[in-house]
Amino acid sequence: MYSEVRHDESFDNKPCVLSCSVGPSTSASWPGQPSVIEPRIGAQVLVGEGISLTFGGVKALRNVSFDVRKGELFSIIGPNGAGKTSLLNCVSGRYKPSQGELRFEGVSLTSLGASRRAQSGIARTFQNLALFSHMTVLDNILVGRHHLMRSNFLTEGLYWLTGAAKEEAAHRRRVEELIEFLEIEHVRHAMAGSLSYGLRKRVELARAMAIEPRLLLLDEPMAGMNLEEKEDIARFVVELSRERGTTIIMIEHDMGVVMDISDRVLVLNYGEVIAQGTPADVLTNSTVRQAYLGAESI
Ligand SMILES: Nc1ncnc2c1ncn2[C@@H]1O[C@H](COP(=O)(O)OP(=O)(O)OP(=O)(O)O)[C@@H](O)[C@H]1O
Ligand SMILES: [Mg+2]
Repeated sequence: MYSEVRHDESFDNKPCVLSCSVGPSTSASWPGQPSVIEPRIGAQVLVGEGISLTFGGVKALRNVSFDVRKGELFSIIGPNGAGKTSLLNCVSGRYKPSQGELRFEGVSLTSLGASRRAQSGIARTFQNLALFSHMTVLDNILVGRHHLMRSNFLTEGLYWLTGAAKEEAAHRRRVEELIEFLEIEHVRHAMAGSLSYGLRKRVELARAMAIEPRLLLLDEPMAGMNLEEKEDIARFVVELSRERGTTIIMIEHDMGVVMDISDRVLVLNYGEVIAQGTPADVLTNSTVRQAYLGAESI
């Protein structure tokens, strides 16, 4: 059965951890077509239509439809077991929906496996960390660039002649830039497994960014962090979205952060979409409040 709703996620009395300067766009209005769109938000890049997913007798997703626009910071929220990770897994190719269709940049994802989706510009982080703990931070992030490397075993023997040396230097420069962006310079040569949880989450984010994704999927990037660590990650996510134009889908339990930084929010409950709209729309939606706070508080 579904696990309990976390009552610390209630909408009331929840301070936003970020200042209003990075707050959500208020000029767009959903559901339906946006009336006014933020200039930085473009056309639809990801469309899900009627996605259903079943595990034995458990219906993890039921007829879920949604769309994400270019440059958007799109959050998925919902109580534990609502189907958030399952939906992200359907987008990344880890799970195959039993029904429905997903299209990325107009192309159906149905027949593409997870690695082809990564090559086509979809990167992700995991709810439970997935780093190589016996590799350095630098090497973990370089792994993310693997599919962008042209050199292979045929050219390795001609390292200095074929441009492979130049290519490697370019990849290392990009990795150094990511390390600087995520403020992890001081641990670049440390083994990933030796780092604190908060730092490992940052390294995982760096590795996902190293893929140069056009769509970045973040599964609870701030889980288990203290307020200061959360603020740091939220700042990176906002900068990625607002300044670098990366389209982001983020699952997050901290309502303060979600409502503060998201352009739009999709709310799942028992595998169903119960609301989709701006943070303001979602905050005032009675079905959402009921799902989070229980019928007695409506
Ligand atoms: N691989 C799996 N095998 C069997 N059941 C699964 C599997 N993955 C998810 N489920 C079930 O599907 C439902 C949705 O799970 P999911 O992990 O997507 O929820 P969630 O919203 O991400 O929850 P949380 O907030 O706890 O991370 C749950 O009932 C879960 O037990
Ligand atoms: Mg989850």
